Amino acid sequence: MLRRLHHDQPASFAFTPANLAWAKGQISKYPEGRQASAIIPLLWRAQEQEGWLTRPAIEHIADMLGMAYIRALEVATFYFMFQLQPVGSVAHIQICGTTSCLICGADELIKVCKDKIAPKPHMLSADGKFSWEEVECLGACTNAPMAQIGKDYYEDLTAQSLEQILVDLDNGRNPVPGPHNGRYAAEPLSGLTSLTEFESGKTKYNGSVQRAVDIGDGVKRIDGTEVPLLTPWLGKAKAEKPVKAAKVEAPAPKATPKPAAKPATAAAAPAKAKKPRALKAPRKGGADDLKLIKGVGPKLEALLHSLGFFHFDQVAAWTEAELAWVDDNLEGFKGRASREDWIAQARALAAKG
Ligand code: FES
Repeated sequence: MLRRLHHDQPASFAFTPANLAWAKGQISKYPEGRQASAIIPLLWRAQEQEGWLTRPAIEHIADMLGMAYIRALEVATFYFMFQLQPVGSVAHIQICGTTSCLICGADELIKVCKDKIAPKPHMLSADGKFSWEEVECLGACTNAPMAQIGKDYYEDLTAQSLEQILVDLDNGRNPVPGPHNGRYAAEPLSGLTSLTEFESGKTKYNGSVQRAVDIGDGVKRIDGTEVPLLTPWLGKAKAEKPVKAAKVEAPAPKATPKPAAKPATAAAAPAKAKKPRALKAPRKGGADDLKLIKGVGPKLEALLHSLGFFHFDQVAAWTEAELAWVDDNLEGFKGRASREDWIAQARALAAKG
């Protein structure tokens, strides 16, 4: 396939401030003189921000990395993951058309795209909201046929389920990703044949789907505010978790009958859960968008509000004991606050103001 730049290009490109900070962080990973190594992440970020890769974006990134434009163009035009033409403002649908998906009905899915979006791949729908293309195997063959839409995989699809997904997206809803034929993950259609004890502990969705549902940003453009920029190689993340690091690295005290052993034993004990100070309502300026904390979706945000937490600085100030209390009280999501390091994330978000 001939990959050319689109004939209609915008006048300019600029990263959002948060994406620019992220891009600079990426560039800083490489030693002096090797900045060009950051070309793919930067092109990808530009595409995540705009939906497609424009000529001004490619040239802007080439300038940032001190590269000749032709070198950046070579990369952008070589990899099919880079969209060189505008995509649907709501979603770009990528239908896998490789063997497993094809024999399980991918041609039916492509027909839906042709009927409902546009007769040809990479063409925009009449309202500009959707576009589609056929792609090579996306590695979810056990759940064929499937499509990637935005950040998520939609699996075990039929023409009807794909049509419904398009309707949901068109109406601003986030369709649930994952299998669409009642399967939990990639187990046999007839049910589990091994590890059957797993059946009783099943949650509503598998882990990947649950995460996608919690975050609810499957087709959202990335503006850089989603995940705080952590650049441990510049020492920025280190400063955010001094207490934890000290605890992990503390040497185990030698057993001794003397009273001197007492404080060390106490330090090693797990923090006793303690409820953090809560608010009855958000402060004057309104609640912060807690969904900017990775791992917090609309459901968890509502739960945090019900517990009296509305602001990044509240989360940032939790102690270990308070974190343990929150972890215990996240019904259905126990342990997520420490797993996703909400305190460090909230500190970074609070610092950004
Ligand atoms: S053949 Fe479609 S995901 Fe592999």
